[in-house]
Amino acid sequence: MLSASLQLLCLQAASALVVGSRAHRIAMAAPSTSRPFSSPEVAPRPGYSKADQVARYAAAQKENNARYLDIETVYDGSYLKGKRVLITGGNQGLGLALVKELHAQGAEVIVVGRRSSPELDALVGVQVITGVDVTDTAAVSGKMIDELKGEPVDYIINNAGYFWEPHETLENMNFEEQMKQIDICGLGPLRVSWAMINKGLVKGSIIIVTSQADSAEWRFTQNPEGGDYGHHMSRAACNMGGVLLAQEIKGKGIPVLLIHPGFNRTGMTSKFKHIWDIEGAVEASVGAKRVLHEVKGATLERTGMFVNAEDGLQIPF
Ligand SMILES: NC(=O)c1ccc[n+]([C@@H]2O[C@H](COP(=O)([O-])OP(=O)(O)OC[C@H]3O[C@@H](n4cnc5c(N)ncnc54)[C@H](OP(=O)(O)O)[C@@H]3O)[C@@H](O)[C@H]2O)c1
Repeated sequence: MLSASLQLLCLQAASALVVGSRAHRIAMAAPSTSRPFSSPEVAPRPGYSKADQVARYAAAQKENNARYLDIETVYDGSYLKGKRVLITGGNQGLGLALVKELHAQGAEVIVVGRRSSPELDALVGVQVITGVDVTDTAAVSGKMIDELKGEPVDYIINNAGYFWEPHETLENMNFEEQMKQIDICGLGPLRVSWAMINKGLVKGSIIIVTSQADSAEWRFTQNPEGGDYGHHMSRAACNMGGVLLAQEIKGKGIPVLLIHPGFNRTGMTSKFKHIWDIEGAVEASVGAKRVLHEVKGATLERTGMFVNAEDGLQIPF
């Protein structure tokens, strides 16, 4: 039996370790150079977003949090002018909204995906590379790279994603669908980034549009009954790949930022239409500005971080 004072010491040491790990994360996030950030809004910020999405949105309303409720109050996309940006899955939903905003800001946009769409085709000057499934290594390292003609990009925005429609439980567990989600959302960003880095085609930052679905810690709040196995596992794989990539390429000066784009009213989330209002889901055009606001802060000081584009705070892995 441990004496009471020894038990107390052990408890204090254990809590110091836990606090230490968070403090370390925050310290890592602190600027390590004197290079000024583009604006304080996109500087590294300590602190974590709230797991409970209803409470998160309600708190933002109560505080009248302009950053959360009206992205226009902080967003300035002028930094994108003349930047060459490759984005995956830009033919619909959030990806299309990102493409439209990048285009409107004067970026040189290259969209990579399986197919185009009339709305995407209507954007004059956007290069669309079709026939590239992000699960197809040959197409990613072949067709996608060939059509870039050796010109490096300032940003890669890995946006393509997939969420199986039915709610997955033990009753309907579908391993094929799990592997498909893991391949698209988990390996897809890594495959595209790998092909680009290995050809020397990245001169700026790598963005991974991921999801709060990654966070194991948040499952205790967001999934009290479990479920949606493939979806959550795919994003956990995605974020693990992103963090490892960030570590491997920081020496090359290439930052990797993992961004949860917030809750957006797209085809992917139409099955959650009934909670769009209470959880503060926004139009994809707003979500795109939230994401691009964070992209502005994708510096080496934040490499490997997982950020919620709604409030700019971190999400625990
Ligand atoms: N909407 C939200 O609230 C929300 C929240 C968290 C995270 N996200 C993430 O944000 C991203 C965009 O979501 P969204 O709501 O805009 O979804 P969406 O409307 O379903 O669009 C998904 C995009 O990914 C592309 N895609 C899917 N599988 C692909 C593959 N194998 N190869 C290449 N492209 C593929 C789709 O192209 P096709 O036309 O070829 O299918 C489409 O362009 C996703 O990564 C999603 O997980 C969204």
